[in-house]
Parts: sequence; C-alpha cells; structure tokens
Amino acid sequence: MRVIAGTARGIRLAPVPRDVRPTSDRVRESVFNALGQFFDGGEVLDLYAGTGALGIEALSRGFERAVFVEKDGRAIATIRENLRRAGLEDRAEIIRADAGRTMESLMGRGRSFRLILVDPPYRIAASEAEGVLVRSPALLSPGGRVVFESGDVSESSSHGKRGDTRRYGGTSVTIYERSELIMRVAVCPGSFDPITNGHLDIIRRSASIFDHVVIAVGSNLSKNPGLPATERAGLIEKVTGDLDNVSVEVMGGLLVDFARKQGARAIVKGLRAVSDFESEFEQAQLNRTLYPELETVFIMSAAEHSFLSSSAVREIAGLGGEVRGLIPESILQTVREKYSGKSRGSEE
Ligand code: PNS
Repeated sequence: MRVIAGTARGIRLAPVPRDVRPTSDRVRESVFNALGQFFDGGEVLDLYAGTGALGIEALSRGFERAVFVEKDGRAIATIRENLRRAGLEDRAEIIRADAGRTMESLMGRGRSFRLILVDPPYRIAASEAEGVLVRSPALLSPGGRVVFESGDVSESSSHGKRGDTRRYGGTSVTIYERSELIMRVAVCPGSFDPITNGHLDIIRRSASIFDHVVIAVGSNLSKNPGLPATERAGLIEKVTGDLDNVSVEVMGGLLVDFARKQGARAIVKGLRAVSDFESEFEQAQLNRTLYPELETVFIMSAAEHSFLSSSAVREIAGLGGEVRGLIPESILQTVREKYSGKSRGSEE
C-alpha cells in the first residue's frame, strides 16, 4: 500500500497488522476522486483508523491536521510508523479509544472537522454504525462530509439516510453531506392514560413530519394516574410497533430537560378545541422560557377525534361501558381490564 497523491505521494506504508482490513488503494483513490482531489486546510477525523491510510492520504492532499481514533494497540503502532514514513507526525493526534466515546468527548471540547472518515470493522453492530452517523453532524463544520465504508453492499447499507453510495466489489462507500445526516427529533409528551385513537393520529402525523418522534410518557402532577407510567408506555409501544421512527420513553423531571437529552428540536402536541388552547399556550410559553431553542408545534386533531379524551375513556371503561372505536383495537381488552372500577383519575 502506498500514499496515492499529494505531498507524501508514493510513500510505501508499513505492513498491515493481522485482523486489520485496510481500504485498498483502488477504493482510496475512488473515494478521493469523489471528494475532490486536493484540499486547502481543515481538520480530518479518521475513526476506526486501522493503518491510518485514509487519514494520511487526506493529510498528504492538503488537510492541515488529522485525529486518528483506534482501539487496537498494534494498529496504533502501525499508524505511528506510517505517519513517520510520510513525515506527517507533527500534524496528527492519535487517540486510543472507542469511536463513539471519543466523538462525545470531541463534541464536549467543541472540535469540528471538515471530513470524517469511518471505516469500521465490517462485523460491528448496525446500532454502533448508526450511533456514529447520528453523532457526526455535531462534529462537522458547515459543508463538511462523512465517508462511510461498509462491507454491506445491499440497499440498506446507507442506514436509511440519503448519501451517495458507490460499490466496489464487496465494499460499499457512502459519502454523506452534513445536511443529509441531521435528524429532526421531536418529543410528543403526555400522560396517555390511556392512549386514545386521537393520540395515535397525532403521533402518526408527527412521525410523517419528523425524522424521529420520542413519545414521552409523563406524569401530570395535578392528576391522579389511572395506571403506572411503565404500563401506559407498554400500551403505546404495542400500538406504535409499526412506526419505525417512533420510540417510547417514560419521562421523569422536566419536559425541557428530557427534550434536551433526546437532542429534540420540537415538542409536538395535539389541539382538539379552543378549550385546550389556554393550558397549552401557558405550557408552551413556560417551556420556551426554560429552553428558548425548543419550539412547540401544534397539530390540529382530526374532527372525528375532537371529542375524545383519556378521561372519557377511563370513565367509560371504569363503569363497564364500550370503548371500542375510541382506542386502538389491539389494547381494547387490556384497557377494559386494567381500568375497570377506576373511573376517577386524571382529566386529560
Ligand atoms: O397529557 P397531559 O396530562 O396533558 O400531559 C401533561 C405533560 C405530562 C405533558 C406535562 O405535565 C409535562 O410536560 N410534565 C413534565 C413536567 C414539566 O416539564 N412541567 C412543566 C411544563 S410547563
């Protein structure tokens, strides 16, 4: 393996340690053809760096500095040797650590990169690869890009994000623009005691607008819960199982703190009628005072759900009435059983 172009062009790289799968010269050349041949400064982050060949190629072609992240001791020694051979040691920092954790610590230090190279061992879990892609935008400067190499040449290798994927034999390489990786996350909070068809309609419509919706099952201090939050969350999981960009969490503490932890940009709420407006307006203003960057977005309930409330469902189920048509079919039996004899409780 050699450095292909730039100031270190032609330098022969050190032998590849066992268990490290380097990016072949051909794939490296194609990646840099796609990125643009030469660069004018900026920093590059080489995750799962292996031999460091990709990051060294970027330095040779004009990047000012590179951070190499690698867990394996023998690979680290190879990166050092390769930097020495290319005369690039002064422009490199080597971190021996896990990629995800290093990304978080670099974020904490406010670092930003023009290029992130991700060439993980092909056997890493999809969730780890997804985690790297989700964290990337926070580390990319505007206009920055991520190069993601994978052994999965199927359609799903782009992790559900856009990107420009090219295939080379058994390898696929996707180049993502920063804007293609930014996820718009919304939190949909409520007591959901129990979830109704009206709630589900709002959740479905939110999921079609945002990249990811986290349903936050909270406890309204002014209300008496009919069921514990974990059981309410279980019912929601059951009826949202077909929505792959929706997750359900029990929320303790303040909604704004929960939203911040989830990386959410918006709170989504349903509005049924003018009667909902006053309290929603008050909550939105308070939340805005606590966390001004978080927007509250209201979705108007469908007309057929405008009369529907959890408190009505609780009362009807509690008194042995028919709740079919008011809540999803798949939780009918559970709601009938769990809420029977519990006609009092929260008001929503
Ligand atoms: O379905 P509900 O009862 O109207 O939901 C109310 C909920 C849980 C969304 C609200 O009580 C809430 O946000 N609780 C979290 C605590 C908090 O942040 N309170 C300040 C909000 S102004």
